[in-house]
Amino acid sequence: MKENQNHVQTSELREKVLSWYHQNKRDLPWRLGKDPYQIWISEIMLQQTQVTTVIPYYNKFIKRFPTVFSLSTAEVDEVLSLWSGLGYYSRARALHRAACKVVEEHNGVFPRDRMKLMELPGVGPYTAGAILAIAFDMPEAAVDGNVTRALSRIYGVRNDVTKTHAKKKIDSFAQSLMTGSTPGDFCQALMEFGSVVCRPRSPRCSKCAVNKFCDAFAKGDVEQLPHKPLKTAPKIIVGAAILLSRKQKFLAVKRPERGLLGGLWDLPGGEVRKDERPEAGLRRSLFESLGLVLGGSLEETGRIVHLFTHRKLILYLFRGEINSQRVRRRGFAAHRWVSLKTFLDLPHSSLTAKAFHSLNLKEIS
Ligand code: ADE
Repeated sequence: MKENQNHVQTSELREKVLSWYHQNKRDLPWRLGKDPYQIWISEIMLQQTQVTTVIPYYNKFIKRFPTVFSLSTAEVDEVLSLWSGLGYYSRARALHRAACKVVEEHNGVFPRDRMKLMELPGVGPYTAGAILAIAFDMPEAAVDGNVTRALSRIYGVRNDVTKTHAKKKIDSFAQSLMTGSTPGDFCQALMEFGSVVCRPRSPRCSKCAVNKFCDAFAKGDVEQLPHKPLKTAPKIIVGAAILLSRKQKFLAVKRPERGLLGGLWDLPGGEVRKDERPEAGLRRSLFESLGLVLGGSLEETGRIVHLFTHRKLILYLFRGEINSQRVRRRGFAAHRWVSLKTFLDLPHSSLTAKAFHSLNLKEIS
């Protein structure tokens, strides 16, 4: 398949997208300045997460850690706490390691070099390009999902955009647009345009400032682009977790650093096997990972469904009580008996927050 770049007048396209941006851009907190540290934090948070979700997290994070130095001296648990609910927690851990590297190897100054930036944990070509363009006004492209969608439609890239061949084409179209005197504004303009106008569904083609350049608009296949292979159905896993009390305190367990939701605090529990009922699976997990044997019957309080990137979890929730058994921990990194309020102050995932919500606890003050 051959794309037609001739119909796209690069400078006119640039001007039109920029002028649309100047008239329509949203007031977002990371657009107030050009501090590379702030741009970096915002771009990491914005990966796989919507702008409206990110805003309060970003403001709180920057207030607590205003500089790369303050972040580098933080405890990783506090960074995870501020990240609680944003998901993809490996981003928060990489952020902390990258801050230490910027301080130790670059005296706290972000390098103005794509390769050096990409040596920082969690920084790939997209984030490096965004920092260089937005913070330093360098003509470096930053291609995310929004930009890929807009450019595949405008330039009529009809190959599978998850494959290297199409990716390279999109990268080169993006780079060809990074001319002119305001690369930073243009970089943000293209992202904003992709997210607000050239939307995945119901794109605003009739109001689009560049529809006359758009190959997909001309050919009538805007919503079929970008072309991606069909997603395979997520694997379904079943789990069970319990709010377990002992003398008015509740058992919180810390997941091992590696693996799903690593390093976060959670309700105790585990995966339920195919041949098991949820309660039996829970009893087995509690014995295997904590050495606990629960007597009597357990109260099943409901279940929640949670989507991870490639997995769908059905989690059965229980409540129960034990007397004075000692915990013999095997699977988890740590455990604590805490009040509900303290439990919710520990770094935890949105899955755990959802579980607490579903438990509908009156005891939480
Ligand atoms: N998505 C990714 N980066 C963004 C930015 N800087 N502004 C708005 N949305 C974005």
